[in-house]
Amino acid sequence: MATVMATGNADMENAAVDLVNPRPDANVVMIGCGPGVGVVAAARRASNGMVVGLDPSAVMVERSRARCRRARVEHFTRVERAEAELLPLPDQSQDAFVSVNNIQLWSDRSVGLDECVRVLVPGGVLVVLLHTWAMPDAVPAEEWIAELTADLSARGVILESSQIQRFRSGPAMVLVGRLA
Ligand SMILES: C[S@@+](CC[C@H](N)C(=O)[O-])C[C@H]1O[C@@H](n2cnc3c(N)ncnc32)[C@H](O)[C@@H]1O
Repeated sequence: MATVMATGNADMENAAVDLVNPRPDANVVMIGCGPGVGVVAAARRASNGMVVGLDPSAVMVERSRARCRRARVEHFTRVERAEAELLPLPDQSQDAFVSVNNIQLWSDRSVGLDECVRVLVPGGVLVVLLHTWAMPDAVPAEEWIAELTADLSARGVILESSQIQRFRSGPAMVLVGRLA
């Protein structure tokens, strides 16, 4: 599964990091980092900062750490087991929060979004990508995106863009916001 994700979702992980475009000294958290493609991509840019990859799966954490070692970015990356609902990060410590293909798996989205805004610095960027086919069946994609946008706005996140983009791996929501 980790190998399938590493190749199948690499286009989206890389696109998410392109959207963040981290400064060299940026602190970036990649939630649900899976096998770590985005962690390495972000670390290559934030080489004087710190990229934290978090995932509840021990297998994914191990895969992600191994990828960082192979890419020789282990000194400015940290990969740990954790869920979006309880981030092992201080308040206002992150310049960017990135979620690719995992927000639909959070057990409590409301708590996860609270955690996201807790750890972001004012002006910090939030990037969420999700394949439309991974959105819950019961709700049309437009409605699901509108709900997420409203939840973010209620937490002081200003939406900069929200669109459906076609990736090699399929169509996906691409949402970029910034904490006021
Ligand atoms: C479909 S994979 C995507 C992995 C990676 N972002 C990618 O696109 O290749 C979803 C990941 O979300 C993780 N996940 C599941 N529940 C989560 C939660 N509550 N908080 C954060 N990550 C979670 C899973 O362990 C898994 O690695």
